[in-house]
Amino acid sequence: MRRVTTDIDIDALDRDQARQELARLAKLLDRADAAYHRDDAPVMSDAEYDALKRRNTAIEERFPDLKRGDSPSDRVGATPAEGFGKIRHARRMMSLGNVFEPEEVRDFDDYVRKYLGMSADASLTYTAEPKIDGLSLSLRYEDGVLIQAATRGDGAVGEDVTRNARTIEDIPTRLENAPRILEVRGEVYMSHADFAALNERQRAAGDKVFANPRNAAAGSLRQLDAEVTRRRPLRFFAYGWGETSANLADTQSESLRVLGQLGFAINDMTRVCDGPEAMLEHYNRIEAARGSLGYDIDGVVYKVDDLALQARLGFRSTTPRWAMAHKFPAELAWTQLEKIEIQVGRTGALSPVARLHPVTVGGVVVSNATLHNEDYIAGRDADGAPIRDGKDIREGDWVQVYRAGDVIPKVADVDLSRRPADASPYQFPQTCPECGSAAIREEGDSARRCTGGLICPAQAVEKLKHFVSRAAFDIEGLGAKQVEQFYRDGWIKEPADIFTLEERFGPGQPRQLKNREGWGEKSATNLFAAIHDSRRIPLSRVLFALGIRHVGEVAARTLATHYGTWTVFIRAMDGAAPQEGPDWNELIGIDGVGKVMARALVTSFAQPAERASIDRLVALLEIEEARQTAPADSPVAGKTIVFTGTLERMTRAEAKDRAEALGAKVSGSVSSRTDLLVAGPGAGSKARKAADLGVEVLDEEAWLKLLGQA
Ligand code: IVH
Repeated sequence: MRRVTTDIDIDALDRDQARQELARLAKLLDRADAAYHRDDAPVMSDAEYDALKRRNTAIEERFPDLKRGDSPSDRVGATPAEGFGKIRHARRMMSLGNVFEPEEVRDFDDYVRKYLGMSADASLTYTAEPKIDGLSLSLRYEDGVLIQAATRGDGAVGEDVTRNARTIEDIPTRLENAPRILEVRGEVYMSHADFAALNERQRAAGDKVFANPRNAAAGSLRQLDAEVTRRRPLRFFAYGWGETSANLADTQSESLRVLGQLGFAINDMTRVCDGPEAMLEHYNRIEAARGSLGYDIDGVVYKVDDLALQARLGFRSTTPRWAMAHKFPAELAWTQLEKIEIQVGRTGALSPVARLHPVTVGGVVVSNATLHNEDYIAGRDADGAPIRDGKDIREGDWVQVYRAGDVIPKVADVDLSRRPADASPYQFPQTCPECGSAAIREEGDSARRCTGGLICPAQAVEKLKHFVSRAAFDIEGLGAKQVEQFYRDGWIKEPADIFTLEERFGPGQPRQLKNREGWGEKSATNLFAAIHDSRRIPLSRVLFALGIRHVGEVAARTLATHYGTWTVFIRAMDGAAPQEGPDWNELIGIDGVGKVMARALVTSFAQPAERASIDRLVALLEIEEARQTAPADSPVAGKTIVFTGTLERMTRAEAKDRAEALGAKVSGSVSSRTDLLVAGPGAGSKARKAADLGVEVLDEEAWLKLLGQA
């Protein structure tokens, strides 16, 4: 064991000496940690270790601003925090669009070329690399030091798994010659061999056995006790980056090479391809190698290689335009359909679910699958045309189960030769199995829906579950299970009740949460605090949380950015209720809002009972104004712009995205609310209408000049 000097008097240190001493201690403790935890070969005694740590803390207390990003006082060894902290990603973590067919890969290339205004024969290269089936992780390095690791979470906010990430050998804790700020993104995964060995150990110890390497990796990374993570053999491939203070290189492929030089594991099956045919060839190569890689992959990812083009292509709401996942074909299996059950969703839809004799499909045991709707069971599509050659599905049938990636397994086909003699056609219920109200199917709707509204317990519970889900209110300690219990007991009947829970069941009340089974002083206090914190919430989350039909996360964000505040939004919904007039036209003019969604919006706010429930909720919240993502000096922020005619310097799609990125609203039609018309050659009726209305008209050059990009 080596001796460590800890005897220079802390009070005598000046700032420079303190900084140096903190650096020295960080290094010593880092080494000691690695030696102890990773190599099982301690280099100092526990007492020495503790003395160093105390010294480090004492210096930090004297010079708080010198505390390092990688301070040993924040590291493993300290008591684990309860739950994971949240980290807002400096750049959103995106997911990928999926395709399955070669033709769709060619379409992707066409789309990219079209967006960029490139001809079919101009050179355009892509990288093609395996899509690792694990979970994504973002690693933030500042001054070459790993200071933060976060899971993807909802893309905007992830979980802080820094301690856990530090235990993964493939993840360097320090980098040499890296940009000052560098977020490295990649996939955490577990190899087949390590997975088998882990399950063996788990089984022997009577612990949980994991279904597949992906689940094992996720379960191992998301351990509150980083010491458990350390004992799990996790690996990491870097495939991209988030925020960086300087570009790593000019291309995707070169940037990966630089990440490799910095010490990250890079997948060696990555290739640069000069077009869709080469991409498909490499896809086949990767698929052929799939079985011998030793880890799970579920497809191939293509990315535009040139980073300048990536920047022009940019992102849709959750996926980049410059990348695409080409998934391996879905996996199939045959099994017996034991029973058809009906679930009632938050919008009242009666959804048939197949209860199956358990069967393994692509390494995952499946015992439930969706049957979509009553037409699907009967063997016809929405227009009455036959599907599966018109074969219906009955309880007792042998059915083919289909699973692709993360999607819910589906029943795809039925084997009539194995149909039991006594099987009879399935009778789809005409009343809600949960509340007994009539279940009605409206014209043009594929689902039969319960008409019970708020009196239907299934709808109420599903609404509440949706309300607390991750992309909605996401309240720590209040998940689907808790909400269901609270509903059963009558403690929470509608979203507003969540925010009065403490008033009714908090300290000093006759009945208290902390005395309930499964709860205690601490968990009750934590829940009240989490609820309290979630009162302040972005408008987009509220709009999504309301669970209005057709209003998903993307639409909620679109609406929030368009209207900005709740007051403006709700006034506009009231104004649009007659489904005509300026407010209605504005609503359906928003890009991404169709008539169907607009109708769903205005009708749900116009229903007295539902509206009263929403008003009760909103009165208890502090809804944040939708953040203007535009730079403060944007000349077009908040303006409504219409493009017409041919643009010559960029495609229409690119122009629209740019304008939106600068905070403008882009509309398809000219009205009295239009601020600006950008007209290229060939502009017709829109230009005339703009002139009539006195709307300012610019040509493309003037428009680019206005943006400072001419
Ligand atoms: S690129 C902005 N490359 O797949 C682009 N993703 O389905 C972000 N994944 O969330 C992703 N291997 O967790 C990329 N070589 C690879 C990947 C990969 C696995 C995961 C990643 C992502 C998910 C999207």
